[in-house]
Amino acid sequence: MVGAGYVGLVSGACFAEFGAEVTCVDVDPDRVAGLRDGAVPIYEPGLEDLVRRNADDGRLRFAIGPGAEVGTADLVFIAVGTPARRGDGHADLRHVYQAAKKLAPNLRGYTVVVTKSTVPVGTAREVHRIVRDTRPEADFDVASNPEFLREGSAIEDFMRPDRVVLGVESARAEALLRELYRPLNLIETPILATGIESAELTKYASNAFLATKISFINEIAALCEATGADVHAVARGMGLDGRIGRKFLHPGPGFGGSCFPKDIAALSRIAVERNVPARIVEATIAANAAQRGRMREKIRNALDGDVEDKRIGVLGLTFKPETDDMREAPSLHVLPPLVDEGARIRAHDPQGMEAAAAHLPETVRFCADPYEVAEGADAVVLMTEWNAYRGLDLERVRDAMDGRVFVDLRNVYEPGSMRTLGFRYVGVGR
Ligand code: UDX
Repeated sequence: MVGAGYVGLVSGACFAEFGAEVTCVDVDPDRVAGLRDGAVPIYEPGLEDLVRRNADDGRLRFAIGPGAEVGTADLVFIAVGTPARRGDGHADLRHVYQAAKKLAPNLRGYTVVVTKSTVPVGTAREVHRIVRDTRPEADFDVASNPEFLREGSAIEDFMRPDRVVLGVESARAEALLRELYRPLNLIETPILATGIESAELTKYASNAFLATKISFINEIAALCEATGADVHAVARGMGLDGRIGRKFLHPGPGFGGSCFPKDIAALSRIAVERNVPARIVEATIAANAAQRGRMREKIRNALDGDVEDKRIGVLGLTFKPETDDMREAPSLHVLPPLVDEGARIRAHDPQGMEAAAAHLPETVRFCADPYEVAEGADAVVLMTEWNAYRGLDLERVRDAMDGRVFVDLRNVYEPGSMRTLGFRYVGVGR
């Protein structure tokens, strides 16, 4: 497993749990040393235990690389980062290609080189070309095996996936990959073998579709506010139609994270380049940006149109619960402009404060718990639906505050009961 980051570590540990012998390699010596000591560098529920158990059992090892360990592997996965390239929205494939170049000289015997990172259509073929050019005599195939892991439930997603997609160009590669995923046959997971390009595109198309679903319900939420409808009733009514489905119809401050924003930008670029503009995807990107603007507007309006010198307490900073990931978190788009307008912000997040501090304006104060956030606040804004904020002692929150405004950007609470408690409650689309 080349790359001991989010995808590489989760996949490596889970393959080891399936019974495979896995070596996770990384270029970062500190990361490798830490992992050997059982220090998992990211927060993902269950990952530390899984890593420790499989390392103790000897199925999971760590090394600086890629180096010699590639020679004994039947399959080599490339699971390095593919950040958005600065400026143009394209995926930055430098790390993928460097990994291919470095692993090629170490190949011994037949090996399948598999791209697991999310990469544009054509990347696996390019990996093939690089390996071939570096080691003309190597006996290998390339394959694409995209991951569909959600942060916060990545291990569950890996162990009980809706499907596994294998983009392959030979029966031999397919057989090795199927063998690796064999434990999933027990739970009858569909394992779909396709061409390489189809597998690569399936990943982008899936993420773009899910992001579109979110942007769609966010626009409907705005329409609900304008018409007096309740978006939860509308989403329930829509979602019961099996063709639509109930999931990913929850309105909020817009989607964020390391995948959706980056992947849909990349898909839109690929489409433009091939002369088949993806207009729905472009609209999804624009709608998501507009949604963040609407959230700022909502907070401003709740504070009578002006946030200058207003004290705003923020609950949750990460892009979603159960992660410390701040990448493209809506909070990073919603809060700084409010600070520029003179708002005084105090915030709490169960896992994300350290990462958030690096990205938020210096004047943002971090608090030990939600009640400290509420102290003296004119408004409390619930930004991320952590479990810790689902069962707040609301009377204590109310009594700690100076004002009565509660802006619930995740619709965690019921408008009626919040008003009964004396809050000036504002949700999304209700
Ligand atoms: C996503 C995909 O789900 C996963 O399959 C892919 O491999 C990587 O990208 P992830 O980024 O971890 O996973 O988060 P996800 O749970 O999908 O949420 C993405 C964003 O959408 C979050 O900001 C979340 O708050 C938001 N969201 C999700 C909504 O606003 N409403 C919803 O109904 C669902």
